[in-house]
Amino acid sequence: MSRTLLIIKPDATQRSLIGHVVSRLEKAGFKPVEMRMLRLAKEQARQFYAVHEGKPFLDDLVEFMSSGLVVPMVLEKENAVDDLRTLIGATNPANAACGTIRQEIAVDLQRNSVHASDSDENAAKEIAFFFED
Ligand code: CMP
Repeated sequence: MSRTLLIIKPDATQRSLIGHVVSRLEKAGFKPVEMRMLRLAKEQARQFYAVHEGKPFLDDLVEFMSSGLVVPMVLEKENAVDDLRTLIGATNPANAACGTIRQEIAVDLQRNSVHASDSDENAAKEIAFFFED
């Protein structure tokens, strides 16, 4: 078993899609083992996305991620990181494969409904960010 982090973003919580996303994750074999609901301060959002420091989209991303409730969760599954990225689809929903979560519910490149860790190393860091204990 391995672990990864998924965040349901403000565009999805605002459209009452939390249950839908969790259901899709569970149907695909992911087991939620930790979950929270919170609103990020701008500084927290900037810290979470520190890897994107200097990118032209960072300010808008920080604004968006702190604009409403987010639901970070730890998911357990064999090959969790890669399987979750396959299930959510490409960052830009216009390029997301049929049947992926982003293809189904994302609005655009920024309001792409969910975030998932991109490596085991980053999963460990991102899990610690939200679930220090
Ligand atoms: P996420 O997987 O959370 O990682 C960084 C986020 O930045 C990404 O999803 C998008 O929501 C957002 N973003 C906005 N513009 C871009 C871009 N040009 N390239 C990558 N990510 C972008």
